[in-house]
Amino acid sequence: MDANRRIEQALDVAVAHLEAPGAPPRLAEALRYAVFPGGHRIRPRLCLSVARACGDDDPLASDAAAVAIELLHCGSLVHDDLPCFDDAPLRRGQPSVHAAFGEPLAVLAGDALIVAAFETLARGAARNPKRLAALVGLVARAAGSPAGIVAGQAWESEPTVALTEYQQAKTGALFAAATVTGAAAAGAPSLPWRLLGECLGEAYQVADDLRDVACRQEEVGKPVGRDVTLGRPNAAALLGMSGALARLKRLVREAIEVIPDCPGAETLRAEIEAQTRLFLPASLARELA
Ligand code: IPE
Ligand code: IPE
Ligand code: MG
Ligand code: MG
Repeated sequence: MDANRRIEQALDVAVAHLEAPGAPPRLAEALRYAVFPGGHRIRPRLCLSVARACGDDDPLASDAAAVAIELLHCGSLVHDDLPCFDDAPLRRGQPSVHAAFGEPLAVLAGDALIVAAFETLARGAARNPKRLAALVGLVARAAGSPAGIVAGQAWESEPTVALTEYQQAKTGALFAAATVTGAAAAGAPSLPWRLLGECLGEAYQVADDLRDVACRQEEVGKPVGRDVTLGRPNAAALLGMSGALARLKRLVREAIEVIPDCPGAETLRAEIEAQTRLFLPASLARELA
């Protein structure tokens, strides 16, 4: 099955569990709204690409890893948009979860998505307890502190933070989780895959920073110019447009270079090259070229 369909179907099953009879109806609605329709789905695709490159001998486990990562990502966006963080009324071109359902349900929906990520792993990877234990540890590391999404968001409450440290925690950690869990779900050693995810995650965040500075809200489906308004470290603001573009290109080159040896390395390289070409909208890439 094509990876995109595989991801949407597996996400649908995970969200359906959250809508079981007895669930508070508006919370259930908010949860589906937070996950569908999706955005780029880049993290679960990366997870499945790495799993495939490593043989993908347990597709239910790799599906569970991919879904867990996307659920965490969707939950992190719900929390990120709240008035106490970025106060963003728009996400993926529609009202953000708190704008549509209110703040209490948005806090709870974000929480429920984080929990659902781990429940999905337990459900999908239980046939192989050793792999399950590894997957839980890898996903938890990306979600929490000291180096995961929680830490990344918490750096915004510190007086100073270095750009790379901030971007690695808020975005790099989940991309790294995508690559390492893709390998672990297929029974391959996860450690060699971390650097690839970290490079791609930082590159993706640099591209997002460029979009924040140079794109219009209608192009990206979320508010723009927020980083300067909120005083957030932004690669384009700190390095200039051409400096940020150079950093983006260097990180993408490094990502391609650090793909570990594996049976599917050639195909994976081509997939990553194709994906990274889409990090910037074509018009912005042309303008900066
Ligand atoms: C947005 O990520 C947050 C960042 C880390 C830049 P995405 O651009 O992947 O968000 P969706 O899932 O496509 O909406
Ligand atoms: C979001 O970072 C990363 C998360 C951990 C949620 P941003 O705040 O830069 O992403 P957008 O621009 O809202 O998507
Ligand atoms: Mg933010
Ligand atoms: Mg934000």
